[in-house]
Amino acid sequence: MRKLKYHIALLFAVLIVPASAQTGSRVAIIPQPSQVIERPGIFKIDRSTKIKSEPIFDRIASLFAMQSDLKTFAPISGNVNGNEILFSLAGKDIVADSAGYRLMITPGKITISARTTTGAINGMQSLLQLILLQPVKGEVPCAEINDHPRFGYRGVMLDVSRNFFPVSYIKHFLDLMSLYKMNKFHWHLTDGPGWRLEIKKYPELTSKTAFRTHRTWKEWWDSPRHYSTEGDPNGYGGYYTQTEAREIVAYAKQRGITVIPEIEMPGHSDEVLAVFPNLSCSGKPFKNGELCLGNDSTFIFLKNVLSEVIAIFPSEYIHVGGDEADQSAWKTCPKCQKRIKDEKLKNESELQSYGIRRIEQFLISKKRKLLGWDEILDGGLAPAATVMSWRGEQGGITAANMGHDVVMTPGSYCYFDHYQADPATQPLAIGGYLTVENVYSYEPVPAELDPSRAKFILGAQANIWTEFIPTTEHLDYMAFPRLPAMAEVTWSEKGNRNYENFKTRLQSHYRLLQRLNVNYCRPSSRLEVGTKFDNEAKKVAVNFKSEQFNPVIYYTLDGSEPTTASYLYKGNFEVSGSAIVSAAIFENGLIKDKSVRLEVDFHKAIGKKVTYNLPYSKNYVAQKEQTLVNGYRGGSLTYGDGQWQGFESNDMDVTIDLEKSDAVKSLAISFMQQTGPGVYMPDFVEVSLSDNGKDFRKVKTITNDIPLTQTVLTLKNFQFTLSGEKARYVRVFAKNGQKGFLFADEVIVY
Ligand code: ACM
Repeated sequence: MRKLKYHIALLFAVLIVPASAQTGSRVAIIPQPSQVIERPGIFKIDRSTKIKSEPIFDRIASLFAMQSDLKTFAPISGNVNGNEILFSLAGKDIVADSAGYRLMITPGKITISARTTTGAINGMQSLLQLILLQPVKGEVPCAEINDHPRFGYRGVMLDVSRNFFPVSYIKHFLDLMSLYKMNKFHWHLTDGPGWRLEIKKYPELTSKTAFRTHRTWKEWWDSPRHYSTEGDPNGYGGYYTQTEAREIVAYAKQRGITVIPEIEMPGHSDEVLAVFPNLSCSGKPFKNGELCLGNDSTFIFLKNVLSEVIAIFPSEYIHVGGDEADQSAWKTCPKCQKRIKDEKLKNESELQSYGIRRIEQFLISKKRKLLGWDEILDGGLAPAATVMSWRGEQGGITAANMGHDVVMTPGSYCYFDHYQADPATQPLAIGGYLTVENVYSYEPVPAELDPSRAKFILGAQANIWTEFIPTTEHLDYMAFPRLPAMAEVTWSEKGNRNYENFKTRLQSHYRLLQRLNVNYCRPSSRLEVGTKFDNEAKKVAVNFKSEQFNPVIYYTLDGSEPTTASYLYKGNFEVSGSAIVSAAIFENGLIKDKSVRLEVDFHKAIGKKVTYNLPYSKNYVAQKEQTLVNGYRGGSLTYGDGQWQGFESNDMDVTIDLEKSDAVKSLAISFMQQTGPGVYMPDFVEVSLSDNGKDFRKVKTITNDIPLTQTVLTLKNFQFTLSGEKARYVRVFAKNGQKGFLFADEVIVY
């Protein structure tokens, strides 16, 4: 017997496919399971398939029957196999991790083994995916899957204040979160644009501020920001009754998801102060957005609200916001200043910290834990608080080093309100640029963190702020396919993650999302061009990247539109001297989208020394002193691509040393405007020349003609045609008239 067993094990061992090498696998589950052993054959689900379960898993089995919608499967004649799906309670020998599962699919039987309902839900979702991923719905490939999560916190935050989303949609969203094994739904319920949860003690919160005077957030934001009532023809909003909120909690729980409510304080509270102006420093509505922390009534109010919140939400965590509080009103408020004095606080940051600590004591007394945005670190962290690191990773690193738990959600990887493709092709978003690949590249445990502290990183979260997401269709669009990428970041082991492999599996998930009527963002057909300049050899290596799967790409080197008779792209290629590369993806012999162009030019300023007469922004250094003369142009998608250098508040003023006196025939420099994040065109750009680097003569000025009303991302090339006068030093000055950001790229000199 022993010997036979050994041989069977060996046979299966041969079939174990390392997860990272499963290209074309029939088991395209996202997030990537810990171990997948593919086997030949299929299990056919049909209307006669029986679902059996041990009592502890009965509800999950019912949920599976409903979600898989068995009645829609065609009856298959001659299905002679056992034809049952079993939810089985396992011991630790079979499933070591309490949230883990084993999914065994053979031609006659599917068995989901788990130790807990959480594990069984996770196993059920893998099976549901396998059903929906196949070209023929219900033909489940045989396999053995052993799986467990890397992180316990796999979150999504949804802002329902900037825009309101109905219960029916929240349920749809929870279904999708659960399908991808995300397990924390952070519900941002209150903020200036509307209070969204019924509080019985303060009915005014919903009767007076759950509706606002304008449909879109932007129109409202640009107005005096008043509130409205239900029934007012211009009113926009809505709220969840406590009954509905409880229904959501139960619905989520059945799908393995904890709902973490967020009640914002002390900032982002304009709507509270509109109905309770006595809780603000000024005592007047529409003046402050911050609660007065010198006033004990504020704490009585918050505790009353939180008591009702705690009764609705069983989550161990209650999120109290804490972000972006403007301290200016506190600085001149007698009550706040008295509080600072009485409590021996140093400043307004410590006053905010005092407020958060007081709320934490209350939550602890109710056996709950406080979770807050990373500003809760400023002025001193409350003793047992968990920190949500959003302003980059530093807050998370600091908190983990202090021994506090952390949820990572840094803006540059986790903000799903950012553009996910070329803004020119996308519905208006708040700004930023976060592709599915960028999300996937995120590693929640910061490299700088000492490994002994990694245990404090509970996981990561995607944040969906909804200022520019007015409808449910648009919300689907912003969430997918970035949510599956975040699911894999938080579930799968680091060594088991590989973008190319994910991209392969994602191809089948487009089918799944279509079957579920999810309005996902379709993969872009635009090519991205990558370059590597070699200034010595005057050569550039060019490569193309695309969200399309295995695209057919043709390119030319003379700027002409590519056709199927042009060069076929087979990987990196080199271009020397000056060239204009033009490339496009082809499908059925035709260009799929617009072609891209890349001008390769080894102009006179490449590699020369740049002196900054005024500094560049330390937050947007790009390639530092090399940025403006490295041969790379900034892209048209975002100022964050590493080739756009920022100048914050001050003008741009640089001098380039050409190393010898040379004829200067032309100069070009581009700037960017995107007014949302405060990025503006310079008022004018001026070029001066000098022979000694001290005495400059102005040769030309170009005035900006892009109006401030042009809010969307816009590039302008300031192109100077010059006389060919000789000079060694070239100075470029750009006037930062708006005192916001200037973003400049390559200074091209011929
Ligand atoms: C945040 O994005 N204000 C937390």
